Amino acid sequence: MKSRKGNVLVIDDEKHLLEVIKLGFEEDGYIVDGFYDPVKAVERFDEKDYDAVISDIRMPGMSGIEVLKYCKEQNPKVVVILITAYSSVESAIESMKAGASDYITKPFRMAELLLRLGEALKMVRIEEMNINLRSEKIKEYEFIGGSGKINEIKEKIKKVAGTDSPILILGESGTGKELVANLIHYNSKRTGKFVPVNCSAFPSELLESELFGYKKGAFTGADKDKDGLFKVANRGTLFLDEISALPIGLQPKLLRAIQTMKFIPLGGTKVEQVYVRIITATNKDIETLVEKGEFREDLYYRLNVIPIYIPPLRERKEDIPILAEFFIEKISKRLNIKKKEFSRESIEKFIEYDWKGNVRELENLIERMIVLEDSDIIDMDSIPKMSKKSEMLNTLNLEMLERQAILKALERSEGKKKKAAQLLGVHPSTLYRKLTKLNIDYT
Ligand SMILES: Nc1ncnc2c1ncn2[C@@H]1O[C@H](COP(=O)(O)OP(=O)(O)OP(=O)(O)O)[C@@H](O)[C@H]1O
Ligand SMILES: [Mg+2]
Repeated sequence: MKSRKGNVLVIDDEKHLLEVIKLGFEEDGYIVDGFYDPVKAVERFDEKDYDAVISDIRMPGMSGIEVLKYCKEQNPKVVVILITAYSSVESAIESMKAGASDYITKPFRMAELLLRLGEALKMVRIEEMNINLRSEKIKEYEFIGGSGKINEIKEKIKKVAGTDSPILILGESGTGKELVANLIHYNSKRTGKFVPVNCSAFPSELLESELFGYKKGAFTGADKDKDGLFKVANRGTLFLDEISALPIGLQPKLLRAIQTMKFIPLGGTKVEQVYVRIITATNKDIETLVEKGEFREDLYYRLNVIPIYIPPLRERKEDIPILAEFFIEKISKRLNIKKKEFSRESIEKFIEYDWKGNVRELENLIERMIVLEDSDIIDMDSIPKMSKKSEMLNTLNLEMLERQAILKALERSEGKKKKAAQLLGVHPSTLYRKLTKLNIDYT
């Protein structure tokens, strides 16, 4: 049984000290087992679920470092605090390297040991909570797609999440830049928050005070101190969206803050130090802005350490049916509506369409169709906007023209492939090959 405060294993070959420590922990509400023989103690460790182990370092039979290594191997989450007889720097360093949460030097006061244990257990619990939160968020921000391009991005997200390098996410509107930024944050071990800020949403002075904060009296209306987003995002991630809209006057200050992780709030005198991961995004052609002198080159290079480019949806059509299925499931669940099915034609139209608004447009359209369609099948009639011919034929993309020609031929031949091939002027085997290649399921 677990007590509220936790199960503790105490090991010390000095019987008197062992009793004192044991009693101290018990009085503070822990459930304690005490051993003066370390070999017996680790045997017991195997049998019971301990939250913490407090062990002397120098003992006959087995050293505290060996106890530490053994226990950590069995249960990496267990808190181990070692007791050293002298303030020997080497043994302290050695114990921390081997994974001790803390160490304490004899003689010590019980209150001090209780405090250290309380802190170490708190850290473990915070870390556990963070892990739970992160895995929930990773589920919430699922990045869907089966195309090679999407898989490459997924790989990259995992690879860069653990680093500090600035990341610049590029892609048209609605391709999932903010989603990717979230995923990078929640795949990292950062303990701070994910803080998004849209640089195009504020006039210059306001953006500056948003980012760096201000002190009371810095300007009219500043009637109390306010933390900037750099500080709010400390130990976390600051996501600067629409970075191309960052006023040129503010760019040197941002560059300095990113390089040094230090800044002074408006009207302040004290330098603040933070540790923040910077992710930026834009749907504009930022290189052209650099060439035109509208965006500082030095800042651009600093932000563009790791670029991630998300291609538009029309360049990865194999993702469309997968995304459509994902959204119909997700939105039906959210709206608490029985899940509808897409007709084959509607999926075909989806694949042909050019999705200028990318995944966001697809998501919104599916929501509209789910809400407006009364029957269980989502058909082309439910998509008034897309059934307009002009919108479907505005392409010069060869693959798309081919797809359209094949579909039209199949329609006219009422699904008879031999006749369709004749209409297309190709051998039926060519048609079959193309149906497979273009993933057209026409039976
Ligand atoms: N691959 C994907 N899988 C699942 N959902 C996606 C995917 N890509 C985008 N989305 C969804 O599409 C919507 C738009 O994505 P997001 O806001 O990240 O786009 P954006 O690139 O930041 O667009 P903008 O440039 O307009 O700000 C969001 O609801 C997002 O969850
Ligand atoms: Mg966005």
